[in-house]
Amino acid sequence: AADVLTDGFGRRHTYLRISLIEHCNLRCRYCMPEEGLDWTPPEHLLTDEEIVRLARLFVTQGVTKIRLTGGEPLLRKGVEHIVAELARLPGLKTLAMTTNGLLLPKKLERLQSAGLTQLNISLDTLRPERFEILTRRKGFEQVIRAIDLAIERGYRPLKVNCVVLRGFNDDELLDFAAWTKDRPVEVRFIEFMPFDGNGWNDAQLVPAAEMRARIEAHYVLEPIAFDPHGTARLFRIPGHQGRLGFIASMTEPFCEGCNRLRITADGSLKVCLFGRAEVSLRDAMRQGASDEELLALISAAVGRKHARHAGMYNLARMRNRPMITIGG
Ligand code: GTP
Ligand code: 5AD
Ligand code: SF4
Repeated sequence: AADVLTDGFGRRHTYLRISLIEHCNLRCRYCMPEEGLDWTPPEHLLTDEEIVRLARLFVTQGVTKIRLTGGEPLLRKGVEHIVAELARLPGLKTLAMTTNGLLLPKKLERLQSAGLTQLNISLDTLRPERFEILTRRKGFEQVIRAIDLAIERGYRPLKVNCVVLRGFNDDELLDFAAWTKDRPVEVRFIEFMPFDGNGWNDAQLVPAAEMRARIEAHYVLEPIAFDPHGTARLFRIPGHQGRLGFIASMTEPFCEGCNRLRITADGSLKVCLFGRAEVSLRDAMRQGASDEELLALISAAVGRKHARHAGMYNLARMRNRPMITIGG
């Protein structure tokens, strides 16, 4: 049975990312096109029951970690209920969420009691005026409050995702490094990745090696152990409570260790973040597929997974969905 989620390269997929919604309360330039999107009509999105059914099925096949994403997952009505249902699945060890944090001060207490074990919060700048330019919305103070609250409530390590854009926020690498001095946060600097409609160009990509070198001109970075299936390479600055990570999807891809599968809000299984290969589990369920039939579809899709980056050599020219409908 463990074979359903093992691909042709022997990679076992134990980590499922489920997008709960396409909408977001921010408009980050690197994530969505300026003109917005043709949002999927609500009746084409997975229902709570469909999400829980799929999650249960994946957990029976060896998934031990589920991450809820979006859009902004906290905008989904009844997100606390979904968290509670998923937290009950026997065999699931980690129930995580990646969020922009805006609604967290309002919702964290209930999410934590419902069983949310891990939180990643996105924050690309420590300067309020820049936050507004990047996200085209207000909310900086609210995100800082969310980070403080998550720390207070015991989320460790609290991961803070920072997408680095040359000429926009790459002058804040040292500010973020200093910010980890008295905070138990793991700031993860992320290389900018191309998705449909996000205005990617390679001049804005800062390679992780360059980010590291720029930080190392001022701080000692001691490598520390990291999850071989994880996205980030981790470092400690002596004397700092927090730590730094680098997610080098573009220049140092980590596909050999990939253990992830994704379900989009409209119910498609994506075996890689990149590429357009998708299977609609929603359609199969709505046509009455049995669990066995769903597993056969899932197994076939996993079997078609490429070694790296969906088999694309030029990610910038590949078609994909906009990031906001994938969830990272
Ligand atoms: P942890 O589970 O806490 O390690 O988080 P994560 O890195 O798996 O997920 P998160 O949602 O915090 O994403 C951080 C960054 O990593 C985002 O830019 C994601 O798009 C990127 N990312 C997540 N999974 C993958 C992946 O499988 N491949 C690539 N190339 N990037 C990924
Ligand atoms: N490149 C890299 N990371 C991205 N994210 C969103 N768009 C991009 C992109 N183009 C990040 C978000 C969030 C995570 C889910 O993905 O900042 O932290
Ligand atoms: Fe996995 Fe695709 Fe990401 Fe590589 S690019 S780590 S194969 S999801």
